[in-house]
Amino acid sequence: MSETLNHVDINHKLQESSPQEILEYAISTYDSIAISFSGAEDIVLVDMASKIKAGVRVFCLDTGRLHGETYQLIEKARQQYDIQLEVLFPDANAVQKLVAEKGLYSFYTDNHQECCGIRKVAPLRKKLLTLDAWVTGQRKDQNPGTRAEIPVIQNDRIFARPGETLTKFNPLANWSSTEVWQYIRKNNVPYNPLHDQGFLSIGCEPCTKPVGPGQHEREGRWWWEEATKKECGLHVDHSKK
Ligand code: ADX
Ligand code: SF4
Repeated sequence: MSETLNHVDINHKLQESSPQEILEYAISTYDSIAISFSGAEDIVLVDMASKIKAGVRVFCLDTGRLHGETYQLIEKARQQYDIQLEVLFPDANAVQKLVAEKGLYSFYTDNHQECCGIRKVAPLRKKLLTLDAWVTGQRKDQNPGTRAEIPVIQNDRIFARPGETLTKFNPLANWSSTEVWQYIRKNNVPYNPLHDQGFLSIGCEPCTKPVGPGQHEREGRWWWEEATKKECGLHVDHSKK
């Protein structure tokens, strides 16, 4: 049976499982695994994982453009939880070249792919070359246009080492935003104070804004671009590759 089929079967089995059960399966199955933590409400994964096992690896992609509040939450997570937290930086020469050629806000005119490619995707790729599995906080309800189909486990062909397998877990895939926030309140999980200021989805400071009543969370990200382009390349749709 191929690895892909295997993941499809496991995905089927884990559909009814809680995020904690999915995380437990992920952490106990893979030694070389890490959680990608953005400094937003995906802090629930850090809280859950630290209750399952001490010293779980967590990494944050520091784009250099995050909000002060996000850096503070990342630091709080480092201090509060028994985790191995790593902050990853983009290649300094690549950032310098981009800024020298196009300035600090090229994404407003060029679209965000180039800047995200340098500041987020390249450091992620480098990190994932060292891992057998990674965990994300993606949920189906975050983006009906691009995330409606995300499975709880998938084969990551985009970032895998050549000839090897990289497994990607999305333990919160089937949870709603309401369930995430119930967990945060019930368990007294520290959270990014920007959420109290109307920010539902949080990314980089220049590319994130609060949303108004009735607006979808994704409308606050890269708002000058079409809804279908609101992905930065961290999460490519594997089913279409
Ligand atoms: S993005 O692709 O639009 O930027 P989003 O903000 O929805 O992603 O976050 C989804 C998941 O991607 C997060 O829960 C986290 O696992 C991962 N992620 C996004 N941004 C970062 C980051 N800066 N550092 C680490 N992981 C991140
Ligand atoms: Fe650059 Fe904006 Fe992407 Fe952050 S979200 S890496 S600032 S384009």
